[in-house]
Amino acid sequence: MKTPTEGAVREPTKRSDPDRAAPGKAEVRDPGLRVRGRNFLLAFYKTLRSITLYPIENTQVTESLDELTAATSEILNSDGGLEVRISRELFYVNDVRLRLELENFASFGQVFRICSQAGIGVIRIDTSPGQREWKAFVAELLRFEEEARGEPRVDDFQKVILTLGVKHIVVERPSERDAEFWDELTRKVAAKQTYRQSVSVTKALFESARMGRTPQLRKITQAVQNIVDQVLNNAVTIMGLSTLRDYDDYTYTHTVNVCIFSLAIGRRLGLTKARLFDLGMAALLHDVGMSRVNVDIIKKPGKLNAEELRRVQAHTWLGALSAFGLRKFGDAPLRAMITAYEHHMKVDFSGYPTGQRPRELSIFSKIVALADAYDRATTSRSDEGAKSPDVVLRELWEDSSLGHDPVLVKALINLLGIYPVGTCVILDTLEIGLVHAANPDETQINRPIVRLLGDPDGSWLDDPPLVDLADTESDGSFTRSIIKVTDPDKYLIKVSDYFV
Ligand SMILES: [Fe+2]
Ligand SMILES: [Fe+2]
Repeated sequence: MKTPTEGAVREPTKRSDPDRAAPGKAEVRDPGLRVRGRNFLLAFYKTLRSITLYPIENTQVTESLDELTAATSEILNSDGGLEVRISRELFYVNDVRLRLELENFASFGQVFRICSQAGIGVIRIDTSPGQREWKAFVAELLRFEEEARGEPRVDDFQKVILTLGVKHIVVERPSERDAEFWDELTRKVAAKQTYRQSVSVTKALFESARMGRTPQLRKITQAVQNIVDQVLNNAVTIMGLSTLRDYDDYTYTHTVNVCIFSLAIGRRLGLTKARLFDLGMAALLHDVGMSRVNVDIIKKPGKLNAEELRRVQAHTWLGALSAFGLRKFGDAPLRAMITAYEHHMKVDFSGYPTGQRPRELSIFSKIVALADAYDRATTSRSDEGAKSPDVVLRELWEDSSLGHDPVLVKALINLLGIYPVGTCVILDTLEIGLVHAANPDETQINRPIVRLLGDPDGSWLDDPPLVDLADTESDGSFTRSIIKVTDPDKYLIKVSDYFV
């Protein structure tokens, strides 16, 4: 039997570089090719766009075709050939992967979408096609897109462009997993955009509160609505984003994380969409009072003295006052005011503000308090550092002095699994992985879906697969089981890289 010791897992020898060539292909370490590849794709996109928007003889079209022809020639001259593969790993130009970022998502995404419509997975060019062939090729691509019905037909497309005199551009079909991959990527980008926007809206909200100005309500409601939608439709991805650790924007990312976790708990409890919106609003505002606490105190490392503590604790009632400033919302700010005021009280009222008469804490306050505690403990900037998510969950469950409602803690554990998203785990196969999602089968709470990062030999995997720890062998034994949780920093793993 394998001994479940850390020493048994060798430190992987190399990190998986997302820009490396596809497995099985020669690595190309030419940064110039990446630039040339990007130029080519952007010129291709520009041509698609200009032919969509303008008549074919328009100077915009001619200019973009010039650019495209030049970008093609540049690659042909330096590399001897041009092969663009649109695979599940996205764009490879002569085997160099072009990173898809938010900035180029629209342009590269459009090229991908239009090529997919015609069933194209590969474009190969050995001799420069010249302006005329490019023009016919792109125009035909657009026509195919317009008429696309049912299955894409790459062979038909090739025949048609040959009849149009396009002899130097060869197209081939993509691999089968592309469509699935594209869907996943689109979901990730939507989640990331929601997350980023929410962080910036929160920042603006806090700034307004600090200056005593009325914040832009429309932006706040839109952000909360987007997070609600993401939690309802894309929960795994948006919760994965909460693993981001941006210490410069800590207060804002913390706020957004609390909003995401609160909504995930609320969803688990079966709240309606309208109630979820109110809960999201309360969560986004829970620490708004912090904007009125001196930033030096908030950022002070180590212990606070009594006066500093008193000032930090004032964020509860200061928050309630700031929320009151948003009274145009109807009854939502009332709930947000209560949550801002109550979220550190604890169920036994041993927290703060102190000296309360017996009262019933609002369910929103209890949910937000739990989401807040979970996020703070897993992302803490304190000297002891952040705790592993599974440790935090256990403490929340076992330590009643933390003052959370056990029914809600149970809901959070059921939601996250015993090993929450982003937990770094070592398996009995001596593989190392990251928890990607709780198992959809709720009876398998300790068997999450894991992304395998490193194999038993200690090598990083180029294309980290997802595995279900509930999978069994023919004799009924589990294929893989977690033997321990480890610190991702120890293996130089940046958890958020695998979620964004
Ligand atoms: Fe707080
Ligand atoms: Fe908080």
